[in-house]
Amino acid sequence: MSQPKNIHLLLTVNGESMQVSVNPGKTLLEVLREDLGSTGTKHGCELGECGACAVLRDGEPVLSCTLLAIECEDARIETIEGMADKDRLHPLQLAFANHGGLQCGYCTPGMLMTARALLEKNRRPSRAQIREALSGNLCRCTGYQQIIESVEQAAAIMDTPGDELTGNDA
Ligand code: FES
Ligand code: FES
Repeated sequence: MSQPKNIHLLLTVNGESMQVSVNPGKTLLEVLREDLGSTGTKHGCELGECGACAVLRDGEPVLSCTLLAIECEDARIETIEGMADKDRLHPLQLAFANHGGLQCGYCTPGMLMTARALLEKNRRPSRAQIREALSGNLCRCTGYQQIIESVEQAAAIMDTPGDELTGNDA
């Protein structure tokens, strides 16, 4: 059977417009990793069950393994590569590092993107709301407690103007 012809897509990833020529059957995850070299987004199950591939589409967390790239042409895609502000890590990144929210780190990009979407809507989520938001993100290592606490720590920092977490904070 002949392969479908490549199509040209214009994707907006982390604020940058990027043109790619891809097989129309490729998922957003495949295009990010294989065509755009954006390997921070992880592939896990590729079945929509683990959350490792989570990115934001127009501010909402989506599983990039379950979406075709072509479905994202008019959307704003954000990945872990765009989370830090130049050299300045996002409070969630610092809180995860300082609070033991990651071990092997494989689930971390998906966790961070999902948590970021939550904190952008709700600056002071309850522990139950954090658990609910992250319920689709699986972690084999941490037991989740440190992840939940990291999100709480980041929320507290983000809700307190001028109170900055640094990479050296315990
Ligand atoms: Fe997408 Fe597991 S890789 S949900
Ligand atoms: Fe290893 Fe979550 S830190 S899978």
